Amino acid sequence: MTEPTGLARGLTNYGDRDFATYLRRSFARSTGISPELLGKPVVGIAATPSGFNNCHRMVPDLVEAVSRGVLAAGALPLPFPTVSLGEVFLSPTSMMFRNLMAMDTEEMIRAQPMDAVVLIGGCDKTVPAQLMGAISADLPAVQLVTGPMSTGRHRGVRLGACTDCRSYWARYRAGSVSAEEIASVEGSLSVTAGTCAVMGTASTMACITETLGMALPGSAAIPAVHSARLVAAEASGRAAVGLIGTKIRPSDVITERSIENALRVLTALGGSTNAVIHLAAIAGRRGIRIGMDRLNAISDETPVLVDLKPVGEGYMEDFFAAGGVGAVLRELKPLLHLDTIDVLGRRLGERLAEPIDWVDRAVIRPFDAPVSRVGGLIALRGSLAPDGAIFKRAAATPALFEHEGRAVVFEGLEDLSRRIDDPALDVAPEDVLVLKGAGPIGAAMPEAGYLPIPKKLAQAGVKDMVRISDARMSGTAFGSIVLHVAPEAAVGGPLAAVRNGDRIRLSVAAKRIDLLVDDAEIARRLAAHQPPTPPARGYRALYARSVQQAPLGCDFDFLAAAPP
Ligand code: FES
Repeated sequence: MTEPTGLARGLTNYGDRDFATYLRRSFARSTGISPELLGKPVVGIAATPSGFNNCHRMVPDLVEAVSRGVLAAGALPLPFPTVSLGEVFLSPTSMMFRNLMAMDTEEMIRAQPMDAVVLIGGCDKTVPAQLMGAISADLPAVQLVTGPMSTGRHRGVRLGACTDCRSYWARYRAGSVSAEEIASVEGSLSVTAGTCAVMGTASTMACITETLGMALPGSAAIPAVHSARLVAAEASGRAAVGLIGTKIRPSDVITERSIENALRVLTALGGSTNAVIHLAAIAGRRGIRIGMDRLNAISDETPVLVDLKPVGEGYMEDFFAAGGVGAVLRELKPLLHLDTIDVLGRRLGERLAEPIDWVDRAVIRPFDAPVSRVGGLIALRGSLAPDGAIFKRAAATPALFEHEGRAVVFEGLEDLSRRIDDPALDVAPEDVLVLKGAGPIGAAMPEAGYLPIPKKLAQAGVKDMVRISDARMSGTAFGSIVLHVAPEAAVGGPLAAVRNGDRIRLSVAAKRIDLLVDDAEIARRLAAHQPPTPPARGYRALYARSVQQAPLGCDFDFLAAAPP
């Protein structure tokens, strides 16, 4: 018997298959869609517009354009809603809900009768969540991103969320920007629909998705409000219909080799540290583990090629005009696995064999004249982070790469906000700021790793210090910041043992982060550690019970796949 297609898929079982078919058809007729069209293959469209997600403001237009492409290719488009995650509107953190969105996406793809799906996402957690869900559902799928914001202007200076938000705020804290000016800047940072305007997490994940092969070639960097984005949406709808024929599934596209390509592009972009977590979670859905040593090897042999904020100067609109992901991939070609396939069924090698029109070398550098000879991100290990930590060397101060200092410890986020600007805080520029209790279990891993420079030091002109935490950092942030320390403090990792005045040593050359306290003393301190009380009910209880540490992508243990 041939597998049912379209609305005949996945019928509810009442013990009478013909009745179930009849019932579904009769209810489908109430949509006003013709019986002829209702009989076609179905492409679901995971739509994520939300009043709480400014980055997805153009999603309704994208749904319309995808639908156009699906219809033109002879199938029936059926949009459906899922959870939508607007980064700055969620509490305690958006990270807590990424897995909820992934579960929603997976289960709605599974539960509803569709032959393929187009996933529309953009803001930081949405694309990882959709990819995680799509891999686990493993139905033919195309990812479409909402695209980046265009820049605004303030007193003749180009501004984009959210690297410029941070640099103006740091200057305001230091007293060099007035209250009136910061209020005026506020209205010039996020001026169009779309995701953050720099190479933050959303744009990094968009570029990674194109590299993986899950989004159409050339689609990652198109600005949200550019007409080409609607054309890409229409083409994504057509591609999804094509996948129904070829039966190429996410598990054919997302492989160990395409993930390695994505890691290479991540380092060449000087991309977001968050992408390491999301890629680990995506890989985990295929049972693939990203090794710290492999990440470091890739980072050491892959130069940073893209001169965009927060690492460099440009914005995503410049990256698009400069040639986008395709231009970066061509520079990296000798290092890439060229036999990976994309949602068009093409090998990466075939794509890269096509000539490229023009590349703006001010934005996307050639391999032999890079922004930096080594990649943007590295993993650290050491007595402070036995299971690893992440350091974005591309956005750090080289003078702090080899640094030893005295720990100034904050026991949690409340403690940090209460004391960081206290004039009596015992802190000097060469100290190391340490934040505990901000890991996946401790606080659902907020983007709090960009600890502010204590006000009295900022006003004295200190721009950067070594800062360490089990938190994440916004992809738009910068500084000499050690993140994702694992195991986190809340589960009794060595970070929980750090006390004021301990010595800590960072070595980027040795890729180590060490607490210079002897092992017996660390063990003695940890013996008294008290884990936080887990929530008693609902999704938060499930989260606390099931979330894994950062090296496993903070996915739930019951959602990750066993190694193949
Ligand atoms: Fe949505 Fe930055 S807030 S991408």
